[in-house]
Amino acid sequence: VVTQFVSSMNIPEGKNMTFKWRGKPLFVQHRTEKEIASEADVNLAELRDPQHDRDRVQNPTWIIVIGVCTHLGCVPIANAGDYGGYYCPCHGSHYDASGRIRKGPAPLNLEVPYYEFPDNDMVIVG
Ligand code: FES
Repeated sequence: VVTQFVSSMNIPEGKNMTFKWRGKPLFVQHRTEKEIASEADVNLAELRDPQHDRDRVQNPTWIIVIGVCTHLGCVPIANAGDYGGYYCPCHGSHYDASGRIRKGPAPLNLEVPYYEFPDNDMVIVG
């Protein structure tokens, strides 16, 4: 199953939209300039699952991740938590605005699915 949508028209800056993709929540976040800059600047030595933001996005305006906590699979809340990204209320995992685990029991970053931008207004996931 392929999900496709017109991203820039549907999602205002600073907002997340949740889609359903292959039975899982898919988070698409339109990041602010501030978020883009601060995520690009994170020191990888601070990270539990070290990954540069540029290796997690194709276009830094958009962070696209699967909304399944890597601890025990709850659905995190977008735009929440101590790192301005996602917060999993089940056991308190905090992810940053690149979906990287920053605090709490989850071992890994939120998964980035395969996707493509055929043009500026559309992303195709899967
Ligand atoms: Fe998310 Fe445990 S399932 S913190």
